[in-house]
Amino acid sequence: MAYGLLKGKRGIIFGALNDMSIAWKVALKAHEEGARFTLTNTPVALRLGTLKELAEKTGSEVLPADATNVQDVEDLLLKSMEVLGGKVDFILHSIGMSPNVRKGLPYDRLNYDFFLKTLDISALSFHKLLMLARKHDAIEDWGSVVALSYVAAQRTLFGYNDMGDAKALLESIARSFGYIYGRDKKIRVNTISQSPTITTAGSGVKGIDTLIDFTERMSPLGNATADDCANYCITLFSDLTRKVTMQNLFHDGGFSSMGMSMRAIDQYSKSFDECD
Ligand SMILES: NC(=O)c1ccc[n+]([C@@H]2O[C@H](COP(=O)([O-])OP(=O)(O)OC[C@H]3O[C@@H](n4cnc5c(N)ncnc54)[C@H](O)[C@@H]3O)[C@@H](O)[C@H]2O)c1
Repeated sequence: MAYGLLKGKRGIIFGALNDMSIAWKVALKAHEEGARFTLTNTPVALRLGTLKELAEKTGSEVLPADATNVQDVEDLLLKSMEVLGGKVDFILHSIGMSPNVRKGLPYDRLNYDFFLKTLDISALSFHKLLMLARKHDAIEDWGSVVALSYVAAQRTLFGYNDMGDAKALLESIARSFGYIYGRDKKIRVNTISQSPTITTAGSGVKGIDTLIDFTERMSPLGNATADDCANYCITLFSDLTRKVTMQNLFHDGGFSSMGMSMRAIDQYSKSFDECD
């Protein structure tokens, strides 16, 4: 059911690759709620993914940009304002990639060129986006910027590797820029810390299926799906959350506050039964 929460609002959505992407679901919901927006991804992702299909469904223009490239992001912001007919009200940063994870290099044997690439793509790109948006005054007063994060920013999770460091930096950038943008323009900057979700990026995490089973058993409300995440993003883009900023908002069915659950204990005890 749509509520018209984003009626008349303009936005930019980064990171939809295919119909499993969290950004894809956000775009569908934002369209349902009355928003108009541009869609963007790297030229390679545009070739390999299916973004054109989403653009047709939502009546959006696709603008290629590598989020680590300052000129690309600058062009994207200016072109988006031109296409949409004014400043934007919301931006979704839904971008993450680690070459170390891709190449299977563990945390105690990282390649540092790859590590810098991880940080650039997954965290610094958020700073570049915010800095350039401010430079070009591209976001309306009381606008909302959201980036997607993961609990590995606060806690060590096997296999998440240098992406944990990137997420910690991403969340810190949201706080640091949230102060400046809030003070000067009343613009909110938040991160959403999402449950593990099966997507192209999610599938790169070692043992993702077991992790998803574990977090499902640990979370009183169960894992949050990509559709649930999209709903949460819409609330943050809407005028109903105008005083929420500089937050890392856990969207994980309660996982981040749990130590041990009955369902996880039940499963864990089974392994002892097998040893008897
Ligand atoms: N899937 C999960 O389990 C999970 C959990 C918590 C947070 N997240 C975060 O959600 C966000 C979206 O990931 P997803 O799970 O939907 O996977 P996804 O693979 O669908 O999306 C990742 C996107 O990042 C884009 N990207 C990579 N390098 C880029 C660059 N240089 N410039 C612009 N775009 C670039 C990719 O093309 C892709 O569209 C990421 O920040 C991810 O870390 C995912």
